[in-house]
Amino acid sequence: MRMIDLIERKKRAGQLREEEIRYFIREFTAGTIPDYQAAALLMAICFTGMTEQETAWMTDAMARSGDQVDLSSVPGVKVDKHSTGGVGDKTTLILAPLVASCGVPVAKMSGRGLGHTGGTVDKLEAIPGFRTFLDRETFLKNVREIGVCVAGQSGNLAPADKKLYALRDVTATVDSIPLIAASVMSKKIAAGAQAIVLDVKCGSGAFMKTAQDASCLAREMVKIGQACGRRMAAVITNMDAPLGRCVGNGIEVAEAIAVLKGNGPDDLRSVCLDLAAQMLSLARKGSPEECRLIAQKALESGAALEKFEQMIIAQGGDASILNRPQALYEKALEYELSAPQDGWIQRMDAESCGRASMLLGAGRETKDSVIDPAAGIFLCKKTGESVRKGELLARLYTNRPDQLEQACETLRESYVFSAEKPAKIPLIYDVILDKSSLFS
Ligand code: URA
Repeated sequence: MRMIDLIERKKRAGQLREEEIRYFIREFTAGTIPDYQAAALLMAICFTGMTEQETAWMTDAMARSGDQVDLSSVPGVKVDKHSTGGVGDKTTLILAPLVASCGVPVAKMSGRGLGHTGGTVDKLEAIPGFRTFLDRETFLKNVREIGVCVAGQSGNLAPADKKLYALRDVTATVDSIPLIAASVMSKKIAAGAQAIVLDVKCGSGAFMKTAQDASCLAREMVKIGQACGRRMAAVITNMDAPLGRCVGNGIEVAEAIAVLKGNGPDDLRSVCLDLAAQMLSLARKGSPEECRLIAQKALESGAALEKFEQMIIAQGGDASILNRPQALYEKALEYELSAPQDGWIQRMDAESCGRASMLLGAGRETKDSVIDPAAGIFLCKKTGESVRKGELLARLYTNRPDQLEQACETLRESYVFSAEKPAKIPLIYDVILDKSSLFS
């Protein structure tokens, strides 16, 4: 088999055979296919696409390229969730203990973020002492004993994706729906859960800018999961404004704690309840409507908060932050950004909010940048709210006063004002279910 023949055929929109895709993934992971040939194939895929069958073969090959987590020692239906990534997305911090408190085990491997804000692992590490890197036995033991563990992705899970993603990142080949679908699903399949809920973000702060692209990606991932024997659901959620009011790491943990205490912003709580409903329903706890009520009760009763406390303690963290969540960001200097004019906030550019928070120290500019857990933003005003000139728009937290001016400018530019009250944008655009996972 010659790589040049595969590139040539894909360039002309031809289809690759199963053994060719498996050859490419195997040999690229082993280092015998050079980056320039892999990049040429990736670019051809970006231009001419892949069929569902090709994408499923690629996903399977990538999922089998390294370790596959065996969750069979944990009783019950194990449910995982994945977000395609957005600004202020702290849903995992809420969902993992929430779903576990409803009796469904959550064994979740999460990543760090690059750019914008940190990933779930960075957020959890804002909790003093919290360990995200656990050996496989400890990870499984925690899930067996308390029903939940959220850990960093181990070194050898889907190594093909790790290598391919690094190459895509520097060759402008990230934004291909089949490549994103294969990348996300290979990690989810390797992580071992029987049921997977996807939170596909759509809008200015997401990979997918339009509802049509988000729906296409969601459908593709649901089909791949189904083909690999997983129960699947995908929820397409709005990412035109940051989710909740906090963007950063420690400050997002504080906001997640507020939701777990039955408070917190409505948009964040509502999206979490919708995602929890799908997770519980895939675990056969009832219809999504019934499961949403079960999850709501777990927030109101304090059961979800108690589960989060158990999770923090089991992973070596300081659970006293539950009583003083502001300790997670109060070490940073606080600045205020006020509104430059009267008006309604017509829209926000979520990506710019993410960039502002990165400038404050909450995200990574390069792979090796060090995150400041206390840095971040509290948005006093968001899309759909009115403001008077001089009123507080946001509070910024940073230990990098030299970056403050640029961060303020970036954040100010993310707001678009208007004289008219803007129309309400839905939080959830669509829910895509695989028919076999429908509750009956
Ligand atoms: N997230 C992933 O894990 N992979 C992609 O290709 C894009 C987003």
